[in-house]
Amino acid sequence: MPLLRLGVEARFYELDQSLGVILHSAKSLIDERTKALLAVNYFGFPQDLSKLRSFCDENNLYFVEDSAHGLLSCVGSRPLGTFGDISILSIRKTLPLPNGAALIVNNTSLLERKSEVVELPTTAPTNLAQFALRNGIRAIERRTSIRLAASLKGALGHTHYGLVAEPASGGASGDVTTFDNPPLSRFAMYLLHRVDVEKIRGERRRAFMFWRDEVARSIDSAKPIFTDLPDGVVPFALPLVARDYRKLQRDLYNIGVECRDYTTVPAGSPGWEYAERVVLVPLHYLGR
Ligand SMILES: Cc1ncc(COP(=O)(O)O)c(C=O)c1O
Repeated sequence: MPLLRLGVEARFYELDQSLGVILHSAKSLIDERTKALLAVNYFGFPQDLSKLRSFCDENNLYFVEDSAHGLLSCVGSRPLGTFGDISILSIRKTLPLPNGAALIVNNTSLLERKSEVVELPTTAPTNLAQFALRNGIRAIERRTSIRLAASLKGALGHTHYGLVAEPASGGASGDVTTFDNPPLSRFAMYLLHRVDVEKIRGERRRAFMFWRDEVARSIDSAKPIFTDLPDGVVPFALPLVARDYRKLQRDLYNIGVECRDYTTVPAGSPGWEYAERVVLVPLHYLGR
């Protein structure tokens, strides 16, 4: 949606059953005007990121990693949000906060104004996302008018540059900072410094396994998209594909789950019919 609002043409490639990018489908959409591949780490489950990186390198494309669902998720010890030339993180989807987001520019050649880069101390990889956020959020608090860049040095030896945009209300049109979401509020910032990230990481994983097993035991109206939970993955939700949508809602309600659908895809666009059948079991943990 933000791309469309910026006047950027988007073409939709196909996904496989586990929501992985089908590369030959993506390949068929590339022409001389194609600049970037955007891939989503759906529900905190990583794409095959090294394959996507090679694909982008071979086809001379930037890689935009949408990790809005994967704030605390890692591949091994490397956090999602560090793989794209540009990566997107959403804070409020993983942590119990009302709002907040970060745009991480890992490819420093994309930074227009190097003078905005602030070097930050090295941090352990497991805390990298939290660290990026803490610093990004400080920047937002200082109310930089448009954006502020910050660098993160991970224990992996990569240098990560975080470009943090403050979503403003009613800014100039075409400015990427003017989309619908509210800026990180003081209340969200207050909470951010108090949430127990390690506990949330563990509890989300525990809840995923609990509800996955519970669904497998007592529900026949749906199939989970992901059954394995690899080490390092911190899921946003347990996504199910409904065989019968209404029946699934009732079945879930009967085992104590009020689920929500995931219809962010505009009606009639590619993938819409599949997205209509995806139901999310929430895994929120309030960190207490
Ligand atoms: C895949 C994906 N990317 C980005 C976003 C945007 O995140 P936010 O709502 O925090 O702006 C969403 C929101 O649902 C999403 O599902």
